Amino acid sequence: MKTTNYSEIAEKYDKNQFRVDEIRFDYDLKDYLKNNEKSEYNVLDLSCGTGLYLEKQINYFDDVNISWNGLDLSDQMLQKSNEKVRNVEFTNANVENMPYQSDVFDFISNNYVFHHYSNKEKALNEIYRVLKKGGIYKLHNIAIHDMPKWWIYHYFPTAYHEDLKRYWNKEDIFNELTVRGLEVTLKIEYRMENIRVSDYLDYAVNRDISVLTLINDEDYEEGLERMKFDAKTHRDKTIVNDFAEMFCIAKKI
Ligand SMILES: C[S@@+](CC[C@H](N)C(=O)[O-])C[C@H]1O[C@@H](n2cnc3c(N)ncnc32)[C@H](O)[C@@H]1O
Repeated sequence: MKTTNYSEIAEKYDKNQFRVDEIRFDYDLKDYLKNNEKSEYNVLDLSCGTGLYLEKQINYFDDVNISWNGLDLSDQMLQKSNEKVRNVEFTNANVENMPYQSDVFDFISNNYVFHHYSNKEKALNEIYRVLKKGGIYKLHNIAIHDMPKWWIYHYFPTAYHEDLKRYWNKEDIFNELTVRGLEVTLKIEYRMENIRVSDYLDYAVNRDISVLTLINDEDYEEGLERMKFDAKTHRDKTIVNDFAEMFCIAKKI
């Protein structure tokens, strides 16, 4: 499996406005806090990247006694996190070998990352180990098997083949969590719509979407040219776009 070098992406990661706007109030964290009243909580944003999730949630939950933690493999991404938020314990480490004691986190969020883990079984073993009994692991990611008409795959077809090599489907995720002793609820939110190609051109040019770094330069340039041609010759040209997100809540029992 190819991997993305996030040290090279760190500088441009937050320039993708979709990514910044997309992070919302975490209702699952709110539910956990409501159903598990305690004097203090320990929350980990696993593979926190540039700290987009932490920045938002710390503001939203500022009246709750939460110790916030962020772990990431890339030092450059963690530096961006550090510039955004204070009072977070950051750790530069691999999910496959986390330098935490066992049974320490009440809630682990994991956004747009799972496909990056080379050894997913080992990652899940570690996640299970560091989660407290009754704690929640929330895996949130795009669900590529339900979005074959994503605009990325339309213009960069080899990207789909790369993604099929690194994404687990929903059954695998459900089963691998269940066999480890987690109680799993998984849902997929799907939408299909016409999108204006010109609205997406900047995202392709920025090349911060990981799969665009995994395809070869010729395929990338060829797709970008087609996209530029479509966007420039007919400013209002639209294509059909699939988008699907997976939300998986796994409770350690
Ligand atoms: C697409 S970014 C997502 C960042 C953040 N969760 C967000 O939603 O913006 C993927 C992140 O996963 C990190 N990552 C990749 N492999 C990892 C691993 N084995 N252990 C820990 N973090 C990893 C990368 O360094 C990068 O910051």
